This record gives sequence, structure tokens and C-alpha cells, in this order.
Amino acid sequence: MCGIVGYTGSQEAAPILLEGLKKLEYRGYDSAGIAVINDSRISVSKVTGRIANLCEKTSDGKNCPGTAGIGHTRWATHGAPTDTNAHPHMSNDGKFAVVHNGIIENYIALREELTEKGYRFESQTDTEVIVHLIEMYYSGNLKNAVIKASSRLRGSYALGVVCTDEPEKLYAAREASPLILGVGIGENYFASDVTALVPYTRNVIYLDDGEFAEITPDSITVFDPAGRPVNKKISRITWDVQAAEKGGYEHFMLKEIIEQPGAIKATIAPRIKDGKIVLDETGLTAEYLKSINKIVITACGSAYYAGCAGKYAIEKLCRIPVQVELASELRYSDPIIDEHTLVIVLSQSGETADTIAAMKECKKRGAKTLAIVNVVGSTIANIADHTIYTWAGPEIAVATTKGYTTQVSVLYLFALYAAEKMNRIDEELYKRLLESLNTLPKKIQEALDMNPQIPNLAKKYHNASSLFFIGRNTDYAVALEGALKMKEISYIHAESYAAGELKHGTIALIEEHQPVIALCCNESIMEKTMSNIIEVKARGAEVLAVTFKDNQKIVSLADDMIYVPKTETIFAAAAEIVPLQLLAYYVAKENGCDIDKPKNLAKSVTVE
Ligand code: F6R
Repeated sequence: MCGIVGYTGSQEAAPILLEGLKKLEYRGYDSAGIAVINDSRISVSKVTGRIANLCEKTSDGKNCPGTAGIGHTRWATHGAPTDTNAHPHMSNDGKFAVVHNGIIENYIALREELTEKGYRFESQTDTEVIVHLIEMYYSGNLKNAVIKASSRLRGSYALGVVCTDEPEKLYAAREASPLILGVGIGENYFASDVTALVPYTRNVIYLDDGEFAEITPDSITVFDPAGRPVNKKISRITWDVQAAEKGGYEHFMLKEIIEQPGAIKATIAPRIKDGKIVLDETGLTAEYLKSINKIVITACGSAYYAGCAGKYAIEKLCRIPVQVELASELRYSDPIIDEHTLVIVLSQSGETADTIAAMKECKKRGAKTLAIVNVVGSTIANIADHTIYTWAGPEIAVATTKGYTTQVSVLYLFALYAAEKMNRIDEELYKRLLESLNTLPKKIQEALDMNPQIPNLAKKYHNASSLFFIGRNTDYAVALEGALKMKEISYIHAESYAAGELKHGTIALIEEHQPVIALCCNESIMEKTMSNIIEVKARGAEVLAVTFKDNQKIVSLADDMIYVPKTETIFAAAAEIVPLQLLAYYVAKENGCDIDKPKNLAKSVTVE
């Protein structure tokens, strides 16, 4: 959600800023802008819409000469997506320009105060208060002005600041919004995430909350909120540039769907050694696991649905109650959580605002937190007591695919690991399930290969005004994610229902030709789902069934089929979701949708 970049060095800044903004496009935005310092003047260019418009307006940056600057993609919160509301914002004296991600919660009071003092506001944004505060506090020392201005802000921010008095210098500050510094040779950078930095440098510094940095072409100095220097470690990014490129695929989403066998292998394989799951990185000892009496999983969106899928495996193997809670609800629910609760937090980006808040709330109540996160160095990874990384590599498409399946796979690993540590599983079952986990990448490859009919199914179903996804137990968990995938990229209304609930209301909506996608991969409860298929068919529904190839009973009932390879039922979700991702993808393609950047959505939801 929004993105910022900054560059100072000996090259022309504008083309580098524009390239950086292109790499951040996937985060979601509706306007963009850059500010470059040249000849003691700041030149600002802003547009509504795509970065391509900004490239056109600036002739690919040629109209904005200068070797230091800042850039921004804005996802409108305060004020419509217009050129005026787009960042960078300038101070009244023309000395400062600011870009900002996040939300300044006390901006109304600050705006009133600054207006009374004579500062003139051009935009409706919360951000503009920051640049006027900096102007107000500036008396020849930008560092001091940034410290004083930041101390007045409540809320979240990643900031980039330039000043004409110090034309080679950038300031970058962070509070609860992602910000990473890129360390080059004779040039330095900042950006909201590493995808904008990897074309230029692999050496990065992760800023912590409250810290800010003074960046020149030859140095980066990080300070704490009081302005004292802080020693920071330089980390090395291991992703290669190609990992964040389309690599010949029409969309990132398709590439990421196809990458899933590899992503899951990278996530699982290093954690299985000599016939045992090794999660030493979690620091979750047998003693600790035996002391807990409840697990709460919290997350948002697809990550929440990954938690719903993982719940079945954890409860079945560990025999401990698992509650799955939406982070946006949990944070305000006065939850019953204490030191005997383990809270598992799922997040691809590691920056989701609600998830961070829910996690902090649980920590406050004494719970230990285990984060399952994809982005190294992210806020959630830093705050958690224990972290397991999903090694999915960069996920660029807004709709998550490999993020979800790697989260689910880690939950399976955790379930088996914890069951063994808690002495809740016998050796034989442990061995069988471990073998099954080892074959997950292969199963996912099979799920990809066994459904060449999906593009044709998409041609049949893409005109539907509404799609129902039904299933029970583990199938229901997959139905939740299948429906979300469909609605977010194809814009078709899609809902998931626990199949057993149909009779309690939803079946009233079933009429002639209503498509119903029925998930039937849980053998223990398949007969029941079959009855539900018969009920909806009796009311005229078209049924697209998702099941095993040899499941003749379902094949004879359904109108169309999607196939899934057989796996252990408690580990079924990882392979079962894959053809539904493909279905959503091809339906969206039929409908001409902007698949990688669906309307109104942002990749990383860093505000509440
Ligand atoms: C849907 C999707 C979102 C995210 C959710 C949480 O395809 O991607 O629902 O799953 O916004 O994001 P993370 O996992 O980054 O916390």
C-alpha cells in the first residue's frame, strides 16, 4: 500500500526513482510523483494514475535533472486520488519536499495549529502537515527539524525528506511502516521494500520503529528518536533480480502459481533432517509446548484462511484447541489470552497493520508469538518471539498464491513438530505424515499438471454473476480461499459456505444454472458433501466438482470436474487450492481484468 523511494549519488536521480516506483507498483496505488533537487531548487512532477503517465510527463525523467530525489506511489486515504493530493508535498518556502507512507492520526489537530500559524495547505492529505512541521522547526539543521517534527506525529509513517540547503542529503524515518535503506558505492537509496533496491544493490539496512537515517552518496547514519547514532547491521538480500521479474509469463500471478512446487520445497526441505522435523529456529521447546493450553492463529485475508486450513492439522495431531481469529477483530475483542496461549501470526508481507496490532495486543497479555512470515526483516518478524520464514521468494501479484500455500505448509510442519514434542503422536504415524509432507511439492506439481481443461472451464463460467464455493471441514477451509481468489481478481461475486449450512438459508439462492463449485477431497465426510451436491443439482445448479480423478461417484454427479491428487486429508489444502487459483486466474483473464493489480487492492495493507 503506497511506496516510497529515494536516491542520492552521481547518476541522474529521476530515472532511478521512476524504475524504483515501477517495482513498487504491485503494492497498489492510484497516483504517483517524484521530487528532484537541482540548482538549489526542488522540481516536483505528479500524476494521477499509472507510473507510465509519470514517465511520459517527465520524458522518462529527462525533464527532471538532478542527482538526489524522492518518489512516491499513493493509495488514496485522506483526499481523492488527484494530482494535488499526490506526493511529494512541498513546504510553503519551497525548501523541503516530503513523501510519506502510513497515516498521521493526529493530522487534524496539527493542520489547525499550522493553519493558525499561517501555513498554507494545498492538499487534503494527512501528509502535508509533516512538511509544514519540518519548515516550522527548521533553523538551519534538518536533522533537528526531522526529530522535532517526528515527535509531533501520531500514527504510522515511512518518510523521505529532501531540503535545498543540503542538496545531496536525504532523510528517511520510520514508525510502523516499512522502510529499508540500500547501501551502494558512491550512491545510496531507500525504499519501502527490497524489490525496488535489488536492481542496484543487495546490501540493505532495516530501519526499526522510531529510527531515522541521514543519507548522503557516501554515508548512511542511523539515529534513534533522540538523535543518537545507532549501529546497524548491513544485511545481504539473497533474492536474485529475476525472482521479481515476470520471466516470460504474462502475469506475475501465473508465474507465482507455477512456482509453488519450488517454493514449498524451499520452505519444507531444509526443516526435515534425518527423519525429523527440525524447527530449532523457533526456539519452541518441548517444555514450553507442553505448558500451553490453547493456540490462537491470527491474520488477515488469505493468511487468515491459511490459518483456517492449518487449524485442522494442529488440532488433529496435537489435540489442543486452535482458535483462528481475524486480526482486525482480535485486536479490539479484549481476547482471553495469557501466558498459556501460543499465538501464531501469519503474514506474507510481515507489514499488515491489523496483524501487527493484534500481535502486540496478545503479547501485552503475556502470550508468546510465533510469526510465519515471508519477508525477511519485516515488522512482524522483528516483533515476534519466534519466527519461521516461508521461503516463497518475492510475491509481486497482489493476490497471494505461493504466499498462502507456503504458510499452510509451515503450519503442517509445525503441527507435526509440536505433536511430537508434546508426545501426542506415535512413531509410525509421525513417519507416515512426514513422508507425506516430503511429497507435497510433487503433489502440487501434479495438481498443476492434471487440469489442462481449466482455461476452457473459465470460458464457460466467466459470465456468471455469482459463484458459490461449498465444502466441509478441510474442504471448507479451501473453499474460503478459493472464493476470495475468484472475487478479488475476476470481480465476480463469489462466496464460500460450509456445505452443511446450505439448508440453513443459502440454498434459497440456488436457481437454474447457478454455478456451484463443490470441494470433495475429504474422504471422511465426502458422502455428506455428495448429498449437498444432489440438493443443489435438484434446484438446477451447475456443479463444478473438485475431487480425485478416480472418484467415480462425484464424476457421475457433477457437470464439470477439476482434479486434485490424493494426499493425507489433514494436509490436503496445499494441493487442493492450486487448481482453484488457476480457475480464478483464467476467469479473470477471460474478463480482461488487471490480474496482477486488481482494482482497489494493495499488496501490503500497512494501514488499518
Ligand atoms: C489475498 C491477499 C490478502 C492478504 C492479506 C494479508 O489474495 O493477498 O488477503 O493475504 O492482506 O496479507 P499479509 O499476508 O501480507 O499479512
